[in-house]
Amino acid sequence: MPRRLGPGFISTLLDLLNSEPDAPADNPVTPRPAWWKEAVFYQIYPRSFGKNGTSCVLRGILSKLDYLRDLGVDAVWLSPVYDSPNDDNGYDIRDYYKILPEFGAMEDMDALIAGLHERGMKLVMDLVVNHTSDEHPWFKAALRDEKSPYRDFYFFRKSGGRPPNNWTSFFSGPAWNYYPKQDVWALHLFSKKQMDLNWECPALREEIYKMVRWWLAKGVDGFRLDVINYISKTPGLKNGDPFIGSLLTYTGIEHYFYGPKLHEYLKELRAKAFDPYNAFSVGETPGIGVRTGRLLTDDYRHELDLIFIFDHLVSPGHTRFDNHRYSKSYLKRFYQTHLNADLGHGWNTLFFNNHDNPRMASKIDPEGKYTAPLTKLLAVLQLTLRGTPFLYQGDEAAVCNVKFASIDEITDVESRGLYAELIKTMPPDKAFKQILAGTRDHARAPIDWEEHERQRNTEDSVWRFYRDLIILRRSSRALIYGELEFQRPHDKKILCYTRCLGNECFYIEANLSHDKGRCKAKPDMVLLFGNYGKTASKVLRPYEARVYKIAISN
Ligand code: NOJ
Repeated sequence: MPRRLGPGFISTLLDLLNSEPDAPADNPVTPRPAWWKEAVFYQIYPRSFGKNGTSCVLRGILSKLDYLRDLGVDAVWLSPVYDSPNDDNGYDIRDYYKILPEFGAMEDMDALIAGLHERGMKLVMDLVVNHTSDEHPWFKAALRDEKSPYRDFYFFRKSGGRPPNNWTSFFSGPAWNYYPKQDVWALHLFSKKQMDLNWECPALREEIYKMVRWWLAKGVDGFRLDVINYISKTPGLKNGDPFIGSLLTYTGIEHYFYGPKLHEYLKELRAKAFDPYNAFSVGETPGIGVRTGRLLTDDYRHELDLIFIFDHLVSPGHTRFDNHRYSKSYLKRFYQTHLNADLGHGWNTLFFNNHDNPRMASKIDPEGKYTAPLTKLLAVLQLTLRGTPFLYQGDEAAVCNVKFASIDEITDVESRGLYAELIKTMPPDKAFKQILAGTRDHARAPIDWEEHERQRNTEDSVWRFYRDLIILRRSSRALIYGELEFQRPHDKKILCYTRCLGNECFYIEANLSHDKGRCKAKPDMVLLFGNYGKTASKVLRPYEARVYKIAISN
């Protein structure tokens, strides 16, 4: 792909810049309380969470609810459990109303919902509505028959022997699949079996709202919305600018990552499906910046409650598959920029891991020399910065990347597709190194329950540290709603801030480096938590993080 600035580049850029007439509100307000601002979420990736000696995965999750409650979890986000051929582990849904037989039956799902609610916990399911599986009956009918009422649910194009445009797929190769029997192409931004839905079609949107309401009526408390910022594509599906494509890795992305009707669709989805149930939403929004993020989440706009922004998961100028050392000073910059922009209309998510990324602790410290203090430091940030913490399974037991020995051990569709591409131009061992740097399989290894339970029963473990911090967060309004003020803003290594509300105030210092740093806590501050124990010295050790209470005199 050319790394040259072509004639379309400037106009594409201007189109993008001019496409948003709105600006986020700039007056600071006191955030409105909401259960999901106070809650600690925990993501379960069912396939690797396991059956835990029960008859199916959903029962296996049910058997672990007391474990989660004990840890302090308030809400579970469950990655897809719907019927699916599993080309992308459930993110390719064949039937929105059915459970994947391998995971259980609808009765098991009902039991899980009830089990969570009995314990005062909520359930957030995954909503994958940018695409369906090519085995979904809608797609099958639409492909079979041009006149099918479902034809307009997808993007079908007749364009002879060439794909209708130059867009590339996130999982390598062109974003179009050709069906020779019907002589037609269909759009898939992800795998060849994940067919993009056409949100322009009102009947499709109504089907989606109906399905969302069906699950909410069952008792589900909300949804995590998969790649939800991709649902509006620029009409005409024009070619992507090759220069932008080479910068952003995917050609065509400027035509859908913040499409012209995104806000309209989100407002409609909320009004017609979420609001009647007062349901919660968190959108997965790759590529969305701080300001546009606020336009999606500020509460007066009635779109999404929260979004996941991923900029902090790789260092600037790199992609997930670049084998690079993570820049910790960037983590500090990210939070300072991102959280300072929060004026109280919206709210943030705080997370380091999910099922799509290698483990953060391994990015920062690949040798694993500081795993325990480092994972505890991440816990401190997650539970004391301003936003809603989303733990990913394994965080509480300091799980790190897997030591894969060969490409044969990698099963993920994205990694396998990329590897096949890479070996066209580089030796297999070099290609494997790139895969190792970014493969999602790192996060998808089966949970080692023995180790998790061992840590649960061990003082000073990462597990206990998470639990105790969650207890602290729950007992303090200041750690949830309090003002966040960054201190020592120019110190590259030490992330330092206060959280204050009324006369409750905390001071947090986190050394983001494996070098020593200086502690600037005042003598009258009381050390509550430290990942090196409760002895406060003037020196911050590698990845040392401390939480102090500040005494406030009236
Ligand atoms: C984002 C999901 O988190 C990821 O696992 C999936 O492959 C893509 N969306 C496509 O659904």
